[in-house]
Amino acid sequence: MAKLKIVKFGDPMLRKVSRPVEEITPRILTLLDDMTETMRDAGGCGLAAVQVGVLRRVVVIEVEEGKVIELINPKIISFAGEQEEAEGCLSNPGNYGLTKRPKVAIVRALDRHGKEIEIKGTDLLARAICHECDHLDGKLYTDIQIRPLSREELS
Ligand code: NI
Repeated sequence: MAKLKIVKFGDPMLRKVSRPVEEITPRILTLLDDMTETMRDAGGCGLAAVQVGVLRRVVVIEVEEGKVIELINPKIISFAGEQEEAEGCLSNPGNYGLTKRPKVAIVRALDRHGKEIEIKGTDLLARAICHECDHLDGKLYTDIQIRPLSREELS
C-alpha cells in the first residue's frame, strides 16, 4: 500500500466529473488499498479517487473504525429525511461548514469483486455517502454549505 497525495481545494481537478470503472483491474484494487491508507493517515472518514488525482468513480468510506466501505461506480438510489451537521473534507483540511444532507441514503455500487452491493447509511454514513458521491461529479460541500463553522462551534 502507498500513501497518496491529496488534491486540495482550488485545484481544478476537483471540479471534474469522474468516469465509471469499466473493469475491476489490479490497478483499481491497488487504488482502493492506497485510498484507504491515505484516508486513514489523514484522519478522514471518506475519500474519492479524484482527491488523489484519479478521475474514476471509486470511493472509500470508514465511519466505523475497521469497517471500510469500498464503492465502485456508486449511485444513490434513494434518500430520506434531513440533517444539519458539520461537514469537512480532506481536500480542505481544518475547515468545516454546516450542511443539510439527507438523514438516510441508500447507495448501490460494485464491491472489489464486481458484486453489486447496496448500503443503507444513516446520519454520519449518509453524509459521507452523499459527500463522496458529490466528489465524483465535481461537487464540493462548500457548494451547499449554509455557513462556515468556526473551531469553537465544533466542540
Ligand atoms: Ni471531500
